[in-house]
Amino acid sequence: MDEIVIRGGRTLRGEVAVSGAKNAALPMIAATILTGGEFVFHNVPDLKDIETICHLLADLGAKAEFSDNTAIIDTTGLGRHEASYDLVRKMRASVLVLGPLVARLKRARVSLPGGCAIGARPINMHLQGLEKLGATITLEHGYVEASADKLKGGEIFFDIPTVTGTENIMMAAVLAEGTTIIRNAAREPEIIALADMLNSMGADIHDAGTTVITIRGVNALRPVSARIIGDRIEAGTYMVAAALTGGRIRLTGADPSHLKPVIHKLREAGAAVDTGDGGITVEGGGGIKSVDVKTLPYPGFPTDMQAQFMVLMSVAGGLSVISESIFENRFIHVSELLRMGADITISGSHALVKGVSKLSGAPVMATDLRASASLVLAGLVAENTTRISRIYHLDRGYEAIEKKFASLGAAIERVPAE
Ligand code: EPU
Repeated sequence: MDEIVIRGGRTLRGEVAVSGAKNAALPMIAATILTGGEFVFHNVPDLKDIETICHLLADLGAKAEFSDNTAIIDTTGLGRHEASYDLVRKMRASVLVLGPLVARLKRARVSLPGGCAIGARPINMHLQGLEKLGATITLEHGYVEASADKLKGGEIFFDIPTVTGTENIMMAAVLAEGTTIIRNAAREPEIIALADMLNSMGADIHDAGTTVITIRGVNALRPVSARIIGDRIEAGTYMVAAALTGGRIRLTGADPSHLKPVIHKLREAGAAVDTGDGGITVEGGGGIKSVDVKTLPYPGFPTDMQAQFMVLMSVAGGLSVISESIFENRFIHVSELLRMGADITISGSHALVKGVSKLSGAPVMATDLRASASLVLAGLVAENTTRISRIYHLDRGYEAIEKKFASLGAAIERVPAE
């Protein structure tokens, strides 16, 4: 397996094109299940998770092709209703096929995703939501089985805003009989992107992006072409890199309105952020100030940026409290950052980060996607060499990360493991 080797200390400068958002592409590809025909997606990131969802679609009987950031999915022959353990354990988001499978084939059998490195991550709200739409749910042998001759509109109230839960229910409800209302819905841009695609297919969804989404069921949908929105988390990761290395990075392809909390915190930390001229430019260099951060559902500060921001705070001028309110175990990067010389104390869901004057390169490994990204960032400012193993996590969510950072002047390469 490959590793990433970084010699830290370079100031990063230049321009990066942000890739399409993994977390927008996954539900949009799952939505192709809803009707037969050929869908074309542009700006699809070339990532392991995209390969996995394409495999899953092929497993269900669809044709799925991917090249040059374009995915062509033909669901005409889709007839199987089972998502196997092998695929779901590779990627939890495979559970996104549950709603559309019940809606189109009247039944679905999907392996229950287990916990993952960042937390238990149950799917109880997805299942309760489907039950509210009239599906019968049974759990047996590690699989969820859901069936309904015809889903019926209903009112759903999520205890916590759930991103993939909102997406699953939206996809199930578009072909249901009558109206569905999702209250306390998640408001992420990826949910709006999915609703836009579903509406262009003929669905009738209102107010996606707010906490109350209304879906009037329709009888039929049609296949469409769609473009994947820019990845706000990938963009945020490069924005932190600019502040961290005291450089200047201009990003294209990301929507600054999706990044408000990250932009706000970067400015508070002393970076200059400009969102004019069709791009986002971040310039560091004036010293990094310590600021407190709490992760929250959108439009709050994203949990998917917490690890990266913690690296910035690790070399800031004072004391910062980082609170994680979404996942119970999302500080797994901390033990690796400590090995690189960071001064971080965890107390429950809070991390107390005392800025240090320098990090020192070390062999490190990561156990989830965003934790891996934080180790790349740490390596970029650390003295000497950082060697990151288990980079398959990075390949799940960051397209060509070493090439993009190298183009900005980083001394970074992918090498076969020693
Ligand atoms: N939750 C429940 N029951 C449920 C569903 C969620 O208790 O039925 C809890 C979760 O355990 C968590 C909270 O609700 O504490 C919110 O989780 P959510 O369901 O919103 O997370 P998700 O849909 O599984 C998506 C992203 C994650 C991102 C989270 C939070 C996708 C494919 N995944 O996960 O992305 O961290 O929302 O924003 O969209 C990543 O890209 O690295 C990643 C982990």
